[in-house]
Amino acid sequence: MYATLKLIHIIAATLTISGFLLRGFWMLSGSPNLNAKAVRIAPHVIDSVFLFSGIGLVWLLQLPVLSQPWLMAKLIAVVIYIILGMIALRRGKTMHARVTALLLALATFAYIVGVALSKSTGSWLALAFA
Ligand code: HEM
Repeated sequence: MYATLKLIHIIAATLTISGFLLRGFWMLSGSPNLNAKAVRIAPHVIDSVFLFSGIGLVWLLQLPVLSQPWLMAKLIAVVIYIILGMIALRRGKTMHARVTALLLALATFAYIVGVALSKSTGSWLALAFA
């Protein structure tokens, strides 16, 4: 059960970032694909599976969320990633704002992956100096 849920979580993480990169590319190139119905709906489906697999893992592992700094950091960073993604793909008023948000969202995602792998708020730095 744990292994299956973790696999689903990792596949969903891969699909989420692949979809985000594709939509980021469409945003930069001004493609109408960005507004296609399927493109607007699919991320919600993937992200729901992603979030529920994460919650399922927390539940299975009986992790005390508040006393696990890496998990708190991950959750806070996920919220920041979602907000930056919304600015990058829809809300940003200027191209400069959208591109800045896009780059910051990618950096945040990279930080989250580092936190997931290291189980430390130090993320990739913790892995490098482990
Ligand atoms: C952008 C968001 C996220 C990314 C990129 C991500 C990525 C990952 C990755 C790559 C792993 C596997 C780490 C390993 O090999 O041990 C993992 C595990 C895990 N994730 Fe996430 N995750 C994200 C969001 C979440 C959320 C929102 C939650 C909780 C609600 C969560 C909870 C967990 C838990 C509990 C584990 C298992 C830790 C363990 O095996 O000890 N993740 N995540």
